[in-house]
Amino acid sequence: MHPAHTSMKKILIAVTGGIAAYKVAAVVSALKQAGHDVQVAMTPAACQFVTPLTFAALSQKEVRTDLFPAHPTSEKDHLYPHLYPATEADLFAVLPATADIIGKFAYGFGDDIVSASALSLPATCPKLFCPAMNTQMWKNPVVQENVQTLENRGWQRIGPEDGLMACGTSGAGRMSDPKTILEVIQSNL
Ligand SMILES: Cc1cc2nc3c(=O)[nH]c(=O)nc-3n(C[C@H](O)[C@H](O)[C@H](O)COP(=O)(O)O)c2cc1C
Repeated sequence: MHPAHTSMKKILIAVTGGIAAYKVAAVVSALKQAGHDVQVAMTPAACQFVTPLTFAALSQKEVRTDLFPAHPTSEKDHLYPHLYPATEADLFAVLPATADIIGKFAYGFGDDIVSASALSLPATCPKLFCPAMNTQMWKNPVVQENVQTLENRGWQRIGPEDGLMACGTSGAGRMSDPKTILEVIQSNL
């Protein structure tokens, strides 16, 4: 993917704990190649699927994984990781967005770096989420209600699509393809 060059923006990419996390590498790489300042934040569950090193290497920036870093430096994003870079972001995108993180956003939880960052975004910051989960999870009324809550609050949903999923089933719940996600991100910059 080689997106057209735009002016540099601060993009906060949040990765949560779904199997589609490996596909996020392509999106991060393309945004970085387009000249953007890309900061990746990951939930602890996301780190079970892809290592932070992958995203650090692609974004050329340390990945935020902890609300309470073991050895914080005096940098503001180490001392206040729940505020920086979120309060300065030009765009926030969550991919894949788990059922869990969607629920946490809907109810205003902030006990991990991704949900705490979401609470700290400027009101004008575009907020995108890309749900990805098993079809039964996606159809669960509590998930659907939480998705609706986010959309009512101005979150922009990308997908999910119908298709074959890693768990071997087929149906709604597959994360939109990275190219589509990249196009939507760029149209919001
Ligand atoms: C192999 C495996 C795959 C998973 N895939 C998904 C998924 O695609 N979508 C989802 O919502 N949850 C999925 N889960 C469950 C989440 O990882 C779990 O709910 C976790 O607590 C989410 O944490 P997070 O939202 O903080 O990242 C999966 C779990 C496992 C073990």
